[in-house]
Amino acid sequence: MSQSAKLRYDDKTIELPIITGSENERAVDIRSLRGNTGLVTLDDGYGNTGACQSHITFIDGEQGVLRYRGYPIEKLAEKSTFVETAYLLIFGELPTEAQLTEYRRLLTRHQFIHEDMRHHFDGFPPTAAPMAILSAMVNAAGCFQPELRQPEEDDKLMEAAARIMSKIRTIAAASFRKSIGKPINYPRSDLRYTANFLHMMFSLPFDPYEPPSEVVKALDTLLILHADHEQNCSTSTVRMVGSSRASLYASISAGVCALWGPLHGGANAAVVDMLSKLQQSGESVESLVAKVKRKDSGVRLMGFGHRVYKNFDPRAKIIKTACHAVLRELGVNNPLLELALELEEIALRDDYFLERKLYPNVDFYSGIIMSAIGIPINMFTVMFAIGRLPGWIAHWREVRTNPDSRIDRPRQIYVGPTLRSYVPLEKR
Ligand code: CMC
Repeated sequence: MSQSAKLRYDDKTIELPIITGSENERAVDIRSLRGNTGLVTLDDGYGNTGACQSHITFIDGEQGVLRYRGYPIEKLAEKSTFVETAYLLIFGELPTEAQLTEYRRLLTRHQFIHEDMRHHFDGFPPTAAPMAILSAMVNAAGCFQPELRQPEEDDKLMEAAARIMSKIRTIAAASFRKSIGKPINYPRSDLRYTANFLHMMFSLPFDPYEPPSEVVKALDTLLILHADHEQNCSTSTVRMVGSSRASLYASISAGVCALWGPLHGGANAAVVDMLSKLQQSGESVESLVAKVKRKDSGVRLMGFGHRVYKNFDPRAKIIKTACHAVLRELGVNNPLLELALELEEIALRDDYFLERKLYPNVDFYSGIIMSAIGIPINMFTVMFAIGRLPGWIAHWREVRTNPDSRIDRPRQIYVGPTLRSYVPLEKR
C-alpha cells in the first residue's frame, strides 16, 4: 500500500507521497510542494535532504553498514582489488574474468600522459599543492581526448573510465615527483594498478622501487575503502556539475577541489598533523581531549565524527586492522599510532563523544598507513582522490544516463536587504 504524508498549511492540506528505497529507507517526496503551496524547504548542509535516488552505494549510518552495489565493504576489502571494485561501482556488476582482463588492458594502454601534458607540470611552482595540480591536470587531460569528454554510452564510458583512472594515478605521482624536484617516472606495463603507482612515486633512475606485497595490499585496501560514499560533498559536487552537462573531466576536476577541504578529504592530513603536534609539544592526550570539549577553543578532534555514521565507521575498523598489519610487516614502530590508539581509547570513554555519537572515521588511521608507506602528508588527499574516482565516475554516469535528470538548482530563502534606492558615488 502506498503511503503518504499530509501537510497542512494555511487552509490547505496537501498529500506528499512517501518513497521507499530498496533497503526500506523512506523519504517524503516534496516535488509537488512548491507548485501546490509556494513553499520551499530549508535544510542547510542538506542533513535531511535526499538529492536523488541512486543505485550505487548504501549506507546505514546507525548500524555502521556500507555496501557498494549491494556488496558489503568488509567482503570487498578482503576479497576484491581496487580495479575490480572500480569496475563494480562504475558498471554495476562484478566483472567476469574476460571483462576484468579487458579493463586491465585498457588501464595499461592509457597509463601514459601525453608528452605535451608533461610540460604543464613545469608551469607550477615547487610549492604548489598537489591537489591544485591534480584538479588542473584532470581538466587539462580532457582537452587531449575531446571525443571522450561526454562518454554517456557504455562502450565510450569503458574507454573514458579506464583512461581517467589510469591517468589520474600517473598525474598524481608526477605532481609528487615535481614537488620534490625528482624526475617524473614513466609507468611500467608489467605492474598492476597500485604497484605501478608506487613505482612512479618512489623509483629512482638507477634504483627501481619494488614495493613489498603487504604495502601494495594495504594501499589497494585503502583505495577500495575510499571508492565511494554516496552523496558526500565531492560526489554531490560531481553530480551537480555533471547535471549542467559539463564533461566527465570538468566534473571530476570540480570533485577534486571539493575533496580538498579539511572537513572532507583533507581530514587525513589534519589527523597526522594533529598527532605530530601532540607528539612534538609533549601535550598529553587528556589535555587535547579537554581542549576539544571546550567549544570556544575551536579545536576539533580530527578523524572523529561523521555526518552519516552515528556508530563506528565500518571503514575505520578495516583500516585499523590494516594499519597494524602493515606497520608490523614493515617493522615500523610509529609513535603516532600509539598516540592515535590512546586518543581513541580516551575519546570512546568520554561522555562528550558518546553523547554526540562521535567515533573514529576512515581518516583517523589512513594517514598513519600512508606515512608508513612513505607517502608524504601533502599527498594524502590526492590518494583519497585516486580512491574516490570510480565513485565519481559512477555517479556522473548515473546522472547523465537518467532520462529524468534535470540541472541541479537549489532554492534559497533570501534574508538580505529589501529594495533600496541606488545612491550615486559622489553622494555616499
Ligand atoms: N571533534 C569535536 N567535536 C565534534 C567533532 C569533532 N571531530 N565532530 C563533531 N563534533 C561536535 C560538534 O561540535 C557538535 O557539537 P554540538 O552539538 O554540541 O554543537 C556535534 O558534534 C555535531 O557536529 P556537527 O558539526 O553538526 O556535525 P556534522 O555532521 O556537520 O560534521 C564532520 C561532520 C565530519 C564535518 C565533523 O564531525 C568534523 O568536523 N570531524 C572532523 C573532521 C573529519 O574527521 N572529517 C572527515 C570525515 S570522514 C571523510 C569524509 O567522508 O570526508
